[in-house]
Amino acid sequence: MKTQQATLTVNSSKQNSNLFSRWNETSWIRSKPMREDSIIGLPFSPNLVPLASHQAIAQDNQLWMTVLAYRLLAHLQFTTLLELNHVNPICSALAQGKAPVYLNLRQRNDALKIYCDEGGHALFVELFSTQVKQTFFLENSVLGLPIFEKVIENIIAENQTQLSSDLIKLFFVTISETLVTKVLKQVPHDPKVATVVKNVIGDHAADEALHGAYFNELFPILWNGISPLEKQEMVKVLPRLVWAFLGPDYDVEYNVLKALGFSEIDAKGILQEVYIPNEIASNVKQAANPTLRMFEKAGVFEVHGAFQIFADYQLIS
Ligand SMILES: [Fe+2]
Ligand SMILES: [Fe+2]
Repeated sequence: MKTQQATLTVNSSKQNSNLFSRWNETSWIRSKPMREDSIIGLPFSPNLVPLASHQAIAQDNQLWMTVLAYRLLAHLQFTTLLELNHVNPICSALAQGKAPVYLNLRQRNDALKIYCDEGGHALFVELFSTQVKQTFFLENSVLGLPIFEKVIENIIAENQTQLSSDLIKLFFVTISETLVTKVLKQVPHDPKVATVVKNVIGDHAADEALHGAYFNELFPILWNGISPLEKQEMVKVLPRLVWAFLGPDYDVEYNVLKALGFSEIDAKGILQEVYIPNEIASNVKQAANPTLRMFEKAGVFEVHGAFQIFADYQLIS
């Protein structure tokens, strides 16, 4: 992973050296058990599943429960793919000093701790997925690839001559690690949701708070380490990475509706009724707010045309 500019040294004085000082006591992999209880209660928060509110689903209790369970399974599958295919390859590079910025030993070892955390997340999520599938009679193959995988592939293909794929992946991980989804924020505190689900997602959320702080510190250093030309191109990619992570995944939901017996026309109609474009944009903008502030602090909006590009994606107004 090399950019056109010379590598930069992370200013240690600005880094919070205590981020991982209690990692042994607080991280799941070092201190918490595998969550193995039965699923008693709802598999997911209904208010985070727009599909579940549609009349065609809500009127049939079994269908409603299956839709909630598929939303949980999609979240678990999303997590495994994100950790194994994206976050950990980047943490491995950071830990080995292969990033386009210089990291000191503590910073590299912190990346290695995140690598261990993410491996743990993939493990407990995969083991729990098996239980979810058995409990609700679900098929993994119904879901298909999450949208973020397809968006990143497209961005890499479209930018082959302007940006290296390593750099795009590094920025995607840095951004996704600073974005906290509503799922991680709300599900662990929803009294209607099964305790084991709340614990699994809560364990993950607790670790991610620390990862967010680490990557929040890393972002300005990465941004200042790329060339003006790379900044000009990357600024067009950043809003798409935010949407890939926070926006709804219509394909996965369509696949679920088809698997539940809805026709192509009905499935598309239901999705159109439950997803209102302005509401979606406002939710994404709200969830992206801390990351947008991080962009602003790092100087992203100083790039010519950046403000308009983000406005076009409805992330600022
Ligand atoms: Fe994670
Ligand atoms: Fe993480």
